[in-house]
Amino acid sequence: MAMQNWPNGLVLPSGVFLLSFVLAISVILVTVTALVITSKRLVNDINTAHNTSGYLVDFLLPSNSQDRVPFAAGQNPFAILYQHYRFVIDGPGLINKGYVRFKQGLFEIPRTFRFGQVILCKPELIEGLRTTRSAVASPEPWIDQVKCPPTVHLLLQISHVMPGYFPKGGGWPAIAKTTPGVIRGTVYKELDRYIPSMDQAILSQFHTLQFNDDECSVGCFDFAYSIVARSGSFAMVGSQLSQNEEYLKAVKDHILGMIMTTRVQFLVPDCLKRARYIGGFISHLATLGTRWDMHASRKILLKHFNARAAEYRDEMASEELNHQPRPEDMHKPVEIFRWLYESSVLRQRWSYSEVIGEMLLLQFAFIYTTAYGLYGALAELARRPEYITPLREEVETILTELGPTVAACDRMILLDSFLKECQRLHPPAAVSAHRVCVTPLQLSNGITLKPGTHVGVPSGVIQRSSEYYENPEAFDGFRFVKRAAAGAKDSRFVDLSPEYLVFGMGVHACPGRWMASALMKLVFAHILTRWNVFLPGSSQGPVTGSLSFEEFYVPNFGLKIGLRRRK
Ligand code: HEM
Repeated sequence: MAMQNWPNGLVLPSGVFLLSFVLAISVILVTVTALVITSKRLVNDINTAHNTSGYLVDFLLPSNSQDRVPFAAGQNPFAILYQHYRFVIDGPGLINKGYVRFKQGLFEIPRTFRFGQVILCKPELIEGLRTTRSAVASPEPWIDQVKCPPTVHLLLQISHVMPGYFPKGGGWPAIAKTTPGVIRGTVYKELDRYIPSMDQAILSQFHTLQFNDDECSVGCFDFAYSIVARSGSFAMVGSQLSQNEEYLKAVKDHILGMIMTTRVQFLVPDCLKRARYIGGFISHLATLGTRWDMHASRKILLKHFNARAAEYRDEMASEELNHQPRPEDMHKPVEIFRWLYESSVLRQRWSYSEVIGEMLLLQFAFIYTTAYGLYGALAELARRPEYITPLREEVETILTELGPTVAACDRMILLDSFLKECQRLHPPAAVSAHRVCVTPLQLSNGITLKPGTHVGVPSGVIQRSSEYYENPEAFDGFRFVKRAAAGAKDSRFVDLSPEYLVFGMGVHACPGRWMASALMKLVFAHILTRWNVFLPGSSQGPVTGSLSFEEFYVPNFGLKIGLRRRK
């Protein structure tokens, strides 16, 4: 009886249906119109006379590419809508399209309800951006901290994803300006001091593997991510926490939670997010109930950070009493957290919340990027067993002579080339060197970009371009050793060059690349000396690069690799 009755409960008067339908269509129309209008309003004008047009004119008139930086795939409202859709699900594809059309110039990509981003393609324009001072074009994460047009919002969505950590509206915080220099001065210059413990951390992570009949199958991304989280945490917070499983899990979950939350925030209009509580509410909702719950893992991280900071306070008090560092600390490498914390307490350069905010950002900059690089390289090695023997011969010879040291890593030139080729084909994102114009930026082609314009370079497509690489789509693990032998400069993994932009360019290029390189080489060296690597099963879908969200590639979390003990 109940079964017969309940459908009747769903019968609504046809007027309500009609109203709901009209309402839904109106919402869609308003959203679509808002998307087109905001895209057109935010686009960078070349000819300032165009600024005088109103919203309606903006919406109705197809923009003239002589007045404005052209969109990648057309200027009319339908083309703009298509590009919004395409960019969200396949950013690299849209960027490729723009690059093909505007190789000798620049183009713009629309981002949902946010700024468009001007993509510089012509080498001279890219070179101009590389040499531009930070006061004119500031690094990207601080876009919403810069006093630019309020519509401009940053890639990391710091105001919404990490509210309260950095002073609002204060621009690029001093702490973030200082950390790259600290990393160059400590992590890079004293890399040798970090290596023994990081090496140990890699081996401890290997001990968690479970072999069955001399074989073991692991999720490739998770394996790479866990190794880097453990060894990277040593450099950031010291040996004790780098062995703490609760902390390590929270680090990994928090980074992925932050990425997910940022992506959800991307799709929400700024005006909504700026309304009180809404941005925070969306942040809470974005990962709630998933294993990457950003807020739950942040709570755990904060607990551990506070405990570690209390230990630093004790150590600092004891050092002050004895007027020198404790003997057991004399040869320890600098812990990034300790350095930031000490500067906050002793020199009052920044607040504790800024220290924590910077740590959370650094975890992302350090751990996710390096894990992604390692993941791509391990997946390629599993697919290409022909590289195992030459790489193994190289690492075994060098490790026997030098042990796990920076000097040893520097000598591994075949491995260096292999890793660089993997990153050339599998960068974490299709755009690099994000900058935002703080003042008007005059480009060499006469165009002036207005303050607030987000700029970047299409690194993914450049790294697969036949203008820079012979047979660019083919994987050649020894491509870069061959190039070096033929006299090419800047062929090492850590070298920056116009055709290899994985680490960015100019003064803001990644200061952690030497650390990333050493870490990845040590992991490879240990794996190659112990195991053969293979792809278990026949087909496991793409290695990397087929899935994307905006310009970011998403790792294939389902991809497994096999490790087989050497006979
Ligand atoms: C394979 C691993 C890595 C990749 C692909 C990578 C990539 C990048 C890229 C593309 C940038 C922006 C460069 C630009 O805007 O021109 C960057 C900046 C940065 N990276 Fe890395 N990174 C990696 C590893 C690391 C590590 C291990 C650390 C820490 C030890 C680190 C710390 C930083 C910092 C602090 C910045 C900001 C630099 C600035 O604003 O001046 N990165 N990284």
